[in-house]
Amino acid sequence: MTGPTVRPRRIRQTAALRGLVAETHLSADQLVLPMFVRESLTEPQPIASMPGVVHHTIDSLRAAVTEAAEAGVGGVMLFGVPDRRDAIGSGATAEDGILNVATRAVTAEIGDELVVQTDLCLDEFTDHGHCGVLDAAGAVDNDATLDRYRDMAVAQAASGSRLLGLSGMMDGQVAATREALDAAGFLDVLLLGYAAKYASGFYGPFREAVQSALVGDRRTYQLDPANRREGVREAMLDIEQGADIVMVKPAMSYLDVLADVAAASPIPVWAYQVSGEYAMVEAAAANGWIDRERIVLETLLGIRRAGAGAVLTYWAVEVARWLRRA
Ligand code: PBG
Repeated sequence: MTGPTVRPRRIRQTAALRGLVAETHLSADQLVLPMFVRESLTEPQPIASMPGVVHHTIDSLRAAVTEAAEAGVGGVMLFGVPDRRDAIGSGATAEDGILNVATRAVTAEIGDELVVQTDLCLDEFTDHGHCGVLDAAGAVDNDATLDRYRDMAVAQAASGSRLLGLSGMMDGQVAATREALDAAGFLDVLLLGYAAKYASGFYGPFREAVQSALVGDRRTYQLDPANRREGVREAMLDIEQGADIVMVKPAMSYLDVLADVAAASPIPVWAYQVSGEYAMVEAAAANGWIDRERIVLETLLGIRRAGAGAVLTYWAVEVARWLRRA
């Protein structure tokens, strides 16, 4: 009776053995929770397409950030939903703009217990819903947008944000914001380049969440889902311009890009598990079609295995609690 000499199953016999040889781990300090704060709200409001996620008031945001810190989550990424929008997204740079007000409230409460981060993009603040300002022909004007991003970077840093999430996909946005921050004395504020951000249908629920005014799409500035090398190119450009961290987004349908960027990058690489990824799992779980907790952990493990350091996920706090319990 002969059998195989090499038996890979040997190493999988017990949970303890499997634990000892696991190549990837999840940990709360590498999770970042994206959060929405809406102007003039008096009670937190559920977002229909993202069960379990809400629009916060300033007060409920402050409380939820404290909870996230207590759960051991590494950071929060704040998004603002303003009452009024205009062509240049004035609310993004105004001292009393909702995101800047919320950032001051949160940083006063939490300090450096976790990393308070802010989304640096105009789409929530413009009446046309694009991530930049438009030229006379209605196209997104790259360089005029960079001027707005410079001001936005300084406004967010002045509000206490530690790390700015550059999600607008304008060429040169890392260099432009770095220069503006340094000139204003904010040498210690970090830049996260959403280097490889794809023009994805997976942002659908988010656009509902921020009540996006967008007509059309973002295909002239976000990456074509068909392209892999281009994701690496964008990451390299962000690194050359001085990004502290680069990101790949969405996560699950772009694990090849994530692996390529992770292999090529000398700086940390993060991934954003976006709203549509969250909504799909929640919907299937609500139907009893999948085991929710198991699938949530498996998606995050897959993203980490592909090469992500930290992961932005709407499940951050819940997962942090599961990990603590384990
Ligand atoms: C742009 C931005 C988007 C997301 C984060 N920042 C969406 C977009 O390009 O419309 C998507 C996040 C998600 O879907 O969870 N400011």
